Amino acid sequence: MSDLIEQAKKFAAYKAVDEHLPKNAKVVGVGSGSTVVYVVERLAQLKESHNLSEVVFVPTGFQSKQLIINNGFRLGSADQYAPGDLDVAFDGADEVDDQLNCIKGGGACLFQEKLVSLLAKKFVLVADSRKKSQRLGTTWTQGIPIEVVGIAYPKVTADLKKLGAKKVVLREGGKAKAGPVVTDNGNFILDVDFGPVQPEEVVPLHNQIKTLVGVVDTGLFDNAEIAYFGEADGTVTTRAKKV
Ligand code: 5RP
Repeated sequence: MSDLIEQAKKFAAYKAVDEHLPKNAKVVGVGSGSTVVYVVERLAQLKESHNLSEVVFVPTGFQSKQLIINNGFRLGSADQYAPGDLDVAFDGADEVDDQLNCIKGGGACLFQEKLVSLLAKKFVLVADSRKKSQRLGTTWTQGIPIEVVGIAYPKVTADLKKLGAKKVVLREGGKAKAGPVVTDNGNFILDVDFGPVQPEEVVPLHNQIKTLVGVVDTGLFDNAEIAYFGEADGTVTTRAKKV
């Protein structure tokens, strides 16, 4: 990964935290992936000045749980909270369209990421500018990640093809693991190519997939309030939800 891309992720993450961490935050959601590492880095820098030792941080999987613990923060769990209980949740994204719909799940954490995002009053995305697009499925072409219960994956694969999927791939562990990737929830991931998805088609497509028996959740999200993108020139741009 080039230094410029790492810098872009870092600047986006720092700015998002600086602008969206409330002064008297009590509970904060922490997403997954390489950009969120910089979110936690910034939170660690602000620990004393913002009294963050008192704040509870809710992870979205194994990686973010370790980030929270290793930075000496208080760890919470999604099952302690109801919608609106978290002040804010910060997370990365694989692709964001201009209506702020996004694809997530490149790191196979989509279910807990969605759960935590829905517990938060405000869901803030952080990414480098490669993640920006007009339509989902144009820059992120490996398919929409869909978490499925393992035993149901052949059935869901057939269902998805009937729904119009061009290609359905069971995500493999590659060199790191023989066989499929197993999520933090013990499920499999299907990467499903539906081609480019228009912004207005995102929610209907998610709803169709979600009704299939065996599907836990999809990597289609429509609930972000704002996205921060680190640009190659060192600046940070934002996209906010159009009302
Ligand atoms: C994990 C995710 C990540 O947030 C997404 O893949 C972005 O990761 P990165 O910040 O490394 O580009 O959805 O399931």
